[in-house]
Amino acid sequence: MRSLDEFAGEKLAALERAQLRRTPAVTARAGIWAERDGRRFLSFSCNDYLNLSQHPEVIAAAIEATARYGVGAGASRLVTGNHPLYAELESRLARLKGSEAACVFGSGYLANTGIIPALVGPNDLILVDEFSHACIHAGARLSGAAIKLYRHADVAHAAEILAAHRAGKQRALIATDGVFSMDGDLAPLAALSALARRYDAWLLADDAHGLGVVGGGRGSSFAGGGGAQARCDVPLQMGTLSKAVGGYGGYLCASRAVIDLMRTRARTFIYSTGLPPSVIAAASAALDVIERDPAYAAEPLRKARLFARALNLPEAQSAIVPMIVGETNAALAASELLRDEGFLVVAIRPPTVPAGTARLRFAFTAQHADTDIARLADIVRMRVFRH
Ligand SMILES: Cc1ncc(COP(=O)(O)O)c(C=O)c1O
Repeated sequence: MRSLDEFAGEKLAALERAQLRRTPAVTARAGIWAERDGRRFLSFSCNDYLNLSQHPEVIAAAIEATARYGVGAGASRLVTGNHPLYAELESRLARLKGSEAACVFGSGYLANTGIIPALVGPNDLILVDEFSHACIHAGARLSGAAIKLYRHADVAHAAEILAAHRAGKQRALIATDGVFSMDGDLAPLAALSALARRYDAWLLADDAHGLGVVGGGRGSSFAGGGGAQARCDVPLQMGTLSKAVGGYGGYLCASRAVIDLMRTRARTFIYSTGLPPSVIAAASAALDVIERDPAYAAEPLRKARLFARALNLPEAQSAIVPMIVGETNAALAASELLRDEGFLVVAIRPPTVPAGTARLRFAFTAQHADTDIARLADIVRMRVFRH
């Protein structure tokens, strides 16, 4: 239809002018290497923090499940798609997170857009850290609750909002990334948890970038000091199986009652097909590696710290180290420059991050060699910072 194509064409032209048009570049991955346009790059742009997508045990589990059960789930988990492999995965997740129960969704995005509307609605209040992932914002909008953004990691601001608005609302939810995806910092979960208790609000932490990496591999709720056995009181520990776990899928770890509610009320659980058996089996095998080898799980953070130290950046709190460049064109140029040197470091630009804070986002994995990290830091210092 002409009007439709005109609309799309005009939108694209405007995005092009602002250097915000995106096109997925064909990229083949092999471990920490990425092949693009016939060239091989050392990738620092991948969330496979423990390289488990390539782990022989994880691959073997996926192959075995496919050979035995076939490729697809066939239906929603409430119809015929609730494969027996889910029980093991969900009990492993609950054990790792120290929760009563767990529920697996199709993806992290589907998890947040299902969980949040199942808990709060039009008479309720939801507070969201302004830098939270897009799927938290999307879940908040879908819920119909009154949404209040609080300044990034600013617990005092969240407290002001609750003081002003909690009384008029039936239920309240505070939702935040546990590890912020584009900044790499940890949410102040202990303080948020105390605040939530004071106002009878429920705290949801999205641990997409925390699981397998911080808190001895157990995630951001366990990263507040006191070791991997000391957990902040976060009743809704949500996350994804697509990053350090190496595969695909989302989850919620919570009390038995909350998990049972999700299974019967979260629309993205009910109305979306279950995960392929291979994906469920692979995630269980990957969690096995994380549980039995906390020293390996500590590696991405150690590497990120090595890099940050070499460049005098603030100490890394996760596997993600951002380098804020400012304008979009400068971030794109810096990424290009590193590509010339054989490194894949993708530029992150608005609307993923606020205008004026376009950045390079370095993601470190267990298998990056210390020598390559030192070389990358040298090149960044000389060619991006120019000193
Ligand atoms: C913080 C955060 N939450 C949720 C998601 C979505 O997870 P998934 O890719 O499994 O949909 C991502 C990344 O994609 C993320 O960074």
